[in-house]
Amino acid sequence: MKVVEQIKLPIVNEMERFEEKFKESMISKVPLLNRITHYIVRRKGKQMRPMFVFLVAKMVSDGNFDERTYRGASVIELIHTATLVHDDVVDDSNRRRGFFSLNALWKNKIAVLVGDFLLSKGLLLSIDNGDFDLLRLISVAVREMSEGELLQIEKARKLDITEAIYFDIIRQKTATLIAACCGIGAASVGADEETVEKMRKFGELIGIAFQIKDDLFDYTDDKIGKPTGIDIKEQKMTLPLIFALNNCEKKEHKWLINSVKNHNKDKKRVKEIISFVKEKGGIEYTTQKMLDYQQKALEILNTYPESEYKNSLTLMVNYVIDRKI
Ligand code: IPE
Ligand code: IPE
Ligand code: MG
Ligand code: MG
Repeated sequence: MKVVEQIKLPIVNEMERFEEKFKESMISKVPLLNRITHYIVRRKGKQMRPMFVFLVAKMVSDGNFDERTYRGASVIELIHTATLVHDDVVDDSNRRRGFFSLNALWKNKIAVLVGDFLLSKGLLLSIDNGDFDLLRLISVAVREMSEGELLQIEKARKLDITEAIYFDIIRQKTATLIAACCGIGAASVGADEETVEKMRKFGELIGIAFQIKDDLFDYTDDKIGKPTGIDIKEQKMTLPLIFALNNCEKKEHKWLINSVKNHNKDKKRVKEIISFVKEKGGIEYTTQKMLDYQQKALEILNTYPESEYKNSLTLMVNYVIDRKI
């Protein structure tokens, strides 16, 4: 059995019901919008975030949950989808989930509006059902994601990123939503504040590992359903490059910065940068950091008693760093 199937074992029915509800949550009276959301639903992603919501909800409640948890999962996936649609505009990326991104097919104007539509649908799903505690958790994540993306742009322009700022960026742009998944999973079943906070922390740690993995993909030629090698093109300096910058001669440092600043669209030069980063051990260093965060997440998980849900979450934590897409 594939590891993903194994992870889903305790939540197979829930994930099926979720897909139906998720589809329904995007319905609109505007035909163009329905065509686009139909396209989105067909090219679904890994759906790791709803899986986190359900597994955490079950782990802290011994398997009992109701519609609130389903709504929490839908809100999260709606917001996640909205941010991907916007992110591909921001990053000028033409592929997503193995096919064209919305901006590639319908242009930026439409992608921006569709992203806003999905965001509003998510917020309304919480409001209309009085899930205000969940709405607070999700709104914090939405704010932080925007801040993280903007901080990233600022650093890409100035090229003055440090390791600490890199971790700040990925915590905000990616880990905060996975933290919200786990917090919402717990809050949706009425867990106490301490548990919600503990699960949020768990999600944050594994979310950081998740984004480090994503940044490592960019240094490979793996077929992951979206472009690789585009971070440098976008002047996005991620941990492997930051490590190389901090561990090279002055002359090399100058060459690196100049390359990223003035030759980032030159494919040959980008390849040279990538080789240089690899030679300097940037990949090993980054991989070790990813493993450190994975370990910290596992430590939190291990404070819970054995259960099939905990078991699946442990597999999830490992899948985050072993995944091929
Ligand atoms: C992609 O997230 C965005 C990042 C935070 C790196 P996923 O890799 O979970 O995207 P899908 O939903 O599976 O496509
Ligand atoms: C993804 O950022 C995080 C979001 C806020 C959507 P990236 O730009 O690094 O992710 P991909 O590689 O496009 O999925
Ligand atoms: Mg992107
Ligand atoms: Mg981006």
